[in-house]
Amino acid sequence: MKPREIRDGVYWVGAVDWDRRLFDCLIPLPDGTSYNAYLIKGSNKTALIDTVDTPMWQKLIDNLNQLGVDSIDYVIANHAEPDHSGAIPQILEKYPGATLLATPRCKDILVDLLMVPKERISTVNDRETVSLGDRTLEFIHIPWVHWPETMGTYLREEKILFPCDFFGSHLATTDLYVTDQGRVHEAAKRYYAEIMMPFRSNIQKNLAKLKDYAIDIIAPSHGPLYDNPDFIMEAYQHWADDKPKNHVVVAYVSMYGSTRRMVEYLVAALAEKGISVEQFDLTVADLGKLAMALVDAATLVIGTPTVLTGPHPAAAYAAIAVNALRPKLRYISVIGSYGWGGKSVEQLSSMIPNLKAEILEPVLSKGAPLEADFKALENLVTIITTKHKEGDFDPVLS
Ligand code: FEO
Repeated sequence: MKPREIRDGVYWVGAVDWDRRLFDCLIPLPDGTSYNAYLIKGSNKTALIDTVDTPMWQKLIDNLNQLGVDSIDYVIANHAEPDHSGAIPQILEKYPGATLLATPRCKDILVDLLMVPKERISTVNDRETVSLGDRTLEFIHIPWVHWPETMGTYLREEKILFPCDFFGSHLATTDLYVTDQGRVHEAAKRYYAEIMMPFRSNIQKNLAKLKDYAIDIIAPSHGPLYDNPDFIMEAYQHWADDKPKNHVVVAYVSMYGSTRRMVEYLVAALAEKGISVEQFDLTVADLGKLAMALVDAATLVIGTPTVLTGPHPAAAYAAIAVNALRPKLRYISVIGSYGWGGKSVEQLSSMIPNLKAEILEPVLSKGAPLEADFKALENLVTIITTKHKEGDFDPVLS
């Protein structure tokens, strides 16, 4: 993609990664992604905000060459993760007069990760400003979105916020701005669920901090820009809210069909009670879809057969992933089957220490589920329904 002008002298100069399908060897990217970098030309000085992932450094250099940029005064590293910092070494080499600006923690990480020479980096404090002449950049520390060192950069005269990962979406597109709100909402929710959800309380604090600023455009480091910032800020407020929705996630694996029968019975019975449910077969589920469902869920039910005295490894993997994502779940239960014994419930419970959820009575059938097991499932449905009513949870809207 060629450079795109956002405002007079303000350009998108990043790279679109249409083909990437996995991030951190963990996160599925069904729609690719982009690494957004921005150039700001002031009357006296020029700044580059963030760079691109290392393999795409030449695309950033090509974009700067196309704009005839022969000097850069400041390279601003909002975030040290290599998908944004990866081309800093090439940029510092091409522009030997450039000073890298970063938070103190970001400086340390850049030195450790990329071996950037310390003398090329100046640190900036929260709300410190730097002048480009007729334009002013203000640095807003927004830690833990999702690393500890992150900041956003605010271009005062144009009211543009460059918040790096915050508000981003893994979406490869030729659109500079959001055009299809539904598509971007889904991609941004997936991004929030996978990247930001573990830091929900910090997200709330940073959202509150940004209320101090008049913002016309949010220009994140992934996905399209928002020329209607309320669209994404309100969505974040909603996702990061403490109260879950009237929603249950059932994530299961079944070897011979017993656990599946129990899952199908449970899902149908919960739906009959007016609770929305999402069912995931963990052998084929998209981890991103599961994470998105957990943004709103009040209850998680893990379904597993017993394998070698414990949960199936797919169920264990899901439990570990949920523990890391720290959703705002209030209740968790385990259902499934066993042949002659085992400790699935105990082992799964030990894998979720980060969650503050109450563990509801599990339902385990010996072999295929019989009448008594379905009655126990009915009882679990009654408990979940009662808990959700007591919680006064709203329905899921999105
Ligand atoms: Fe897009 Fe945290 O890097």
